[in-house]
Amino acid sequence: MLTVRESEIRWQGVTVDFPLRRLRAIQDISLEVQGGEVLAVMGPSGCGKSTLLKTAAGLVSPKAGTVQLGAKPISSPSRQIALVFQEAALFPWFTVERNIDLALARTISRNERTTQVSRLLATVGLTDFGHVFPRELSGGMARRAALAAALARDPAALLLDEPFSGLDVTSRRKLARELAGIIANRALTTILVTHSVDETLMLADRVVVLTGRPGRVRTSVPVGLPHPRQGNEPELAEVRTRLYNILETEE
Ligand SMILES: Nc1ncnc2c1ncn2[C@@H]1O[C@H](COP(=O)(O)OP(=O)(O)OP(=O)(O)O)[C@@H](O)[C@H]1O
Ligand SMILES: [Mg+2]
Repeated sequence: MLTVRESEIRWQGVTVDFPLRRLRAIQDISLEVQGGEVLAVMGPSGCGKSTLLKTAAGLVSPKAGTVQLGAKPISSPSRQIALVFQEAALFPWFTVERNIDLALARTISRNERTTQVSRLLATVGLTDFGHVFPRELSGGMARRAALAAALARDPAALLLDEPFSGLDVTSRRKLARELAGIIANRALTTILVTHSVDETLMLADRVVVLTGRPGRVRTSVPVGLPHPRQGNEPELAEVRTRLYNILETEE
């Protein structure tokens, strides 16, 4: 397990271009997420939030600047950073169980892996769906299965790209609550990309709002209420209003 400092993610002056489309997605982003911190990233559609996560997952290389996990530069995907995409990524030809099992370290014995697969299925509320193939799951269930597979990798950091989109309100809150528990238990460094102020107030320690494309850091707002919390506490009223004000005025 990595120490708190080693699981810190740091962007320094990061700019990402997509030259084929002659497009700058993000510009000069400097940002630090402390070990065990939950950072929400918000901002208009197309401003570069997913791109920002992909640089931390080693899937997109910056044109300028550096991204580090602790002291180590991130240049390719690694087990230590798990990204759960907007579109849940599971191997379609394997069952949910097998997808999770494949994500566990090969150094773990087969018996222990079976135990862990069951535990992870229970964590995301899919106990009865281990034998099912991804195509037989609803969108929300697929998202939860992908989350279980991400957790199976026992990452130091968890990057979540709109993990609750497409879920009904009740499932959203339930999954958000489960997630809050998992994050707190494992002291996971977490970055949550979301369009929802409610989810941000339920999960995040701090919110960074990006400008329109190319995304730059517009402002950083601490949520300032300890966990566990529901997101609707009266103490959060002020930060809620502040966030809506920021999000509703373009920059
Ligand atoms: N692989 C790619 N090749 C070319 N352009 C890309 C690529 N990925 C993203 N882009 C472009 O970069 C910009 C930022 O995209 P990104 O997906 O990061 O936005 P986003 O903030 O996540 O948006 P949303 O809230 O809609 O998910 C967009 O203009 C998008 O079209
Ligand atoms: Mg996105």
